[in-house]
Amino acid sequence: MAFPKSEFIWMNGKLVPWDEATVHVGTHALHYGSSVFEGIRAYGTPRGPALFCLDPHVDRLMSSAKMYKMPLPFPREEIRAAIVQVVRINGLASCYVRPIAFRGFGGFSLDPRKCPVEVAIFAFEWGKYLGPEALEQGVDVGVSSWRRMAPDTFPAMAKVGGQYVNSQFVAMEANDHGYNEGIALDINGYVSEGSGENIFVIVDGTIYTPPVGSSILRGVTRMAALTLAGEMGYPIIQQNIPREMLYAADEIFFTGTAAEITPIRSVDRVQIGSGKRGPITKKLQGEFFAIVEGRATDRYGWLTYVNDVPAQKIALRAAVPAE
Ligand SMILES: Cc1ncc(COP(=O)(O)O)c(C=O)c1O
Repeated sequence: MAFPKSEFIWMNGKLVPWDEATVHVGTHALHYGSSVFEGIRAYGTPRGPALFCLDPHVDRLMSSAKMYKMPLPFPREEIRAAIVQVVRINGLASCYVRPIAFRGFGGFSLDPRKCPVEVAIFAFEWGKYLGPEALEQGVDVGVSSWRRMAPDTFPAMAKVGGQYVNSQFVAMEANDHGYNEGIALDINGYVSEGSGENIFVIVDGTIYTPPVGSSILRGVTRMAALTLAGEMGYPIIQQNIPREMLYAADEIFFTGTAAEITPIRSVDRVQIGSGKRGPITKKLQGEFFAIVEGRATDRYGWLTYVNDVPAQKIALRAAVPAE
């Protein structure tokens, strides 16, 4: 299937046609993974596309850049406005948005700070990350032989490009073993997360999820699931999770911008609960989708309706280049 290109990409303050948003092969980030990025979904609602948790995502981008000593050449509000603009100008009803800031061409020193920082934002239509049936049927996953990074090797809380080589090893091994996704353990052998998802484990009506200290990315969807689970009155415990708790669980699910809330039906070919989406997962999923698709009250202010943002607030530095 051809990639669903959209028309314009915001690159360093300008809107450029999709095919012209290119970089030099000497780009530092291409060699050393020197980038920070986000993944944000815009959902189709009766009021047009709505970005889910735009501000938490922009905040995490700023925080990743700060941790990585990468001063961004655009202020937060301009990046936020550009994200809205990219969804709007491409006329996308629903999409995935990828803002990325990276070190450009400026030498190959391993101290990247002499390289210019570039910023790009693009959006494209995207379906269900773990397959169309995953949300109802659940996915089969395996515990990976690849661990997440030790806390003093990479900053897990920062969404830095180079760290995703670790995620790629987890994902490749899982696919090679016939799984939809892998689960990485942390350096102490406790459950950490999927290659691009946080994980929740339900035992006897209590919802467990690994703490930030288990080398997880602090997921925005994780925060949303914790909020909804709290609202529904389920006990929630953030604690180290031993591997065998996965096999003993009644329900397990992943959260992530890409994976949304995806049930896990087996781990290492061991059936979880009834082998189907469990009742708590279903309830959380139902409420999550009702909010993001604009069918339930947005009581936590999670949605930014793209068409409601006044046009002057999304003015860009430069217009689309003349033909
Ligand atoms: C490693 C990793 N963990 C967890 C997540 C889930 O985070 P979020 O819900 O913010 O997408 C992601 C996706 O961004 C990820 O890449």
